[in-house]
Amino acid sequence: MRLTIISGAVRHQSKSNTAKIIGAFRQGFEAGGNTTKVWFLSDRRQWDSARAALQTEENVLFALPLYVENVPGILLEFLEGAAADAPPQACGRLSFLLQGGFPEASQSRCCEKFLKTLPGKLGREYGGTFIHGEMFGLSLLGEKRAKAMLKPFAEAGRRFAQAGRFQGADFANLSSPEYLSEKQIRQSRHFRPAQKCLLTVIARRLGCKTRLDARPLIEDTGKIKSSER
Ligand SMILES: Cc1cc2nc3c(=O)[nH]c(=O)nc-3n(C[C@H](O)[C@H](O)[C@H](O)COP(=O)(O)O)c2cc1C
Repeated sequence: MRLTIISGAVRHQSKSNTAKIIGAFRQGFEAGGNTTKVWFLSDRRQWDSARAALQTEENVLFALPLYVENVPGILLEFLEGAAADAPPQACGRLSFLLQGGFPEASQSRCCEKFLKTLPGKLGREYGGTFIHGEMFGLSLLGEKRAKAMLKPFAEAGRRFAQAGRFQGADFANLSSPEYLSEKQIRQSRHFRPAQKCLLTVIARRLGCKTRLDARPLIEDTGKIKSSER
């Protein structure tokens, strides 16, 4: 099978978690002799080729990060142009790989609903959405941890190569839990101090120079500074 992958991430390929996830997915997908071609929307020079592939290729997969509980704006902009070029009759399949920072799959359900509407508008059959959370730290937690975090995507690639779509229990058990259990939530409270330290380290690596609990717009009295009202 030949698969066209279009990354809907905003961040440049070299910094994007989606790019790393696509890399792992390809590894699994190509293991049996299948081939892929990837286009990155973060590079606008690739938009014409991505649009042409969306019109002509049989199997297309959008891989995207969850942004404010839905799709990144750059992908919406790309899709606006693509919908006008859609063939009148359904041809080929469109599937989605959706990854986010929070651990629960429930975070992504609103976005999934929107994604489900797209294949019809683009003259394609829906091939399902694979959802995986807890990916925020992928580029920040070191190579060993990243390797473990990418494993489910390589496996999803292998299974997608066989099924041609993301549907059924085979993919559900690779995905993140719908909700964390009460026990997991209770346990996470014990780790809060460690989580705070970790977030501080991550924030520094991302260029943050102040404390994470800084309140620059609030006076000592607790009121919003008059200059900011
Ligand atoms: C502006 C912005 C909004 C985000 N919104 C969400 C969100 O609503 N839910 C979530 O689980 N993760 C959210 N995230 C986290 C990203 O989905 C996550 O870190 C992802 O791995 C980033 O992939 P990328 O590096 O390819 O952009 C957000 C990240 C950014 C920068």
